[in-house]
Amino acid sequence: MARAPLLLLLAAACLLSFAGAGANAAGRKMVGVYELSKGDFSVKVTNWGATVTSVVFPDSKGNLGDVVLGYDTIAEYVNGSAYFGALVGRVANRVANARFVLDGKVYHLYANDGKNALHGGHRGFSKVIWTVKEYVSGGDTPHITLYYHSFEGEQGFPGALDVYVTYELSSPYVLSVRMNATALDKATPVNLAQHTYWNLGGQGSGDVLGNTIQLFASRYTPVDSTLIPTGQVAPVAGTPYDLRAPTAVGAHIHQVSGGSSNGSTIYGYDMNYVVDGDEHALRKVAAVRDGASGRGLELWADQPGVQFYTGNFLKDIHGKGGKVYEEYGALCLETQGFPDAVNHPGFPSQIVRPGQGAYKHDMVFKFSF
Ligand SMILES: *[C@@H]1O[C@H](CO)[C@@H](O)[C@H](O)[C@H]1NC(C)=O
Ligand SMILES: *[C@@H]1O[C@H](CO)[C@@H](O)[C@H](O)[C@H]1NC(C)=O
Ligand SMILES: *[C@@H]1O[C@H](CO)[C@@H](O)[C@H](O)[C@H]1NC(C)=O
Repeated sequence: MARAPLLLLLAAACLLSFAGAGANAAGRKMVGVYELSKGDFSVKVTNWGATVTSVVFPDSKGNLGDVVLGYDTIAEYVNGSAYFGALVGRVANRVANARFVLDGKVYHLYANDGKNALHGGHRGFSKVIWTVKEYVSGGDTPHITLYYHSFEGEQGFPGALDVYVTYELSSPYVLSVRMNATALDKATPVNLAQHTYWNLGGQGSGDVLGNTIQLFASRYTPVDSTLIPTGQVAPVAGTPYDLRAPTAVGAHIHQVSGGSSNGSTIYGYDMNYVVDGDEHALRKVAAVRDGASGRGLELWADQPGVQFYTGNFLKDIHGKGGKVYEEYGALCLETQGFPDAVNHPGFPSQIVRPGQGAYKHDMVFKFSF
């Protein structure tokens, strides 16, 4: 999910500190790039948008490759509108008509996707500077913890919210992402999602239509033409959304509408799947394999749904190392609550209330080659 050109003119200050990855107290609110490494497995993260900027590990021949889309400079992340690698919130995905009612009060969000709100609005969590709370670059469990205080009324959301995300290389070739959020004074919807674009053949190596995908999901939430769920929860059986058995990403892609751009239909997956099993248990969500490189990815998470997106809106984007990204140049597996849950009483609730437990979201990516 992408689009909505947005120009954020952020101060040169954040660009000046781009090169420095220091974790000294003074630097904690400046923008830097932080590397986590464990042997030949390494991940880079910036506190601009709590964004994953690279994930490197070998292919079956031992050649290292970076498997996530992104940019070479923070300035391009500031300007970009594809959410490459970002942590999106306060409410990921779409909120219909940028509006909801909670505890009898109407809230209006910033509409940045036609009349809907997308990924927390114009300046969601992917477009702010996070504070580096802890950074350990190597050793047994290299990790970084980032913190963001979202203020009352930010992008229209109720109440203040404290948000944490930890990226950790928890064992060889395993990346875990742990998120939590605490409502400080008012009830609020919360739905965080990690928006990395994966291309296991290497970023910029072409489309992912030949990758095989398996989604452990027997149902999905059908949407209208603006990608807002109808409220229905339907079986995938007998539809092109059925990816329960390993299937080439491209096998049925021209049978699924991925929304529309200026009136013409775009094909591709951009759909929330209902992950099988207990909706808050850590369980297997998806498996992806790229035959050519031999690389694989398995995703585990503890959320009700996963948005499967095939980069339908990528077009002529100049990314890392001179690579150009085109449609289907990567896929996203965004575990999360259901889209627009705040407007669908039948969907699992995403409301977090002060003093009544925090929002939590864990993801584990297991890579192989
Ligand atoms: C900003 O993004 C737009 C597309 O959204 C692109 O055309 C432009 O080149 C970008 N500018 C910079 C400085 O990256
Ligand atoms: C959220 O995560 C941070 C960083 O790991 C941790 O210190 C804090 O206790 C967590 N909060 C909750 C409510 O789990
Ligand atoms: C709409 O998008 C299509 C496909 O990208 C393009 O060919 C066409 O020129 C666009 N039409 C308008 C009116 O912008």
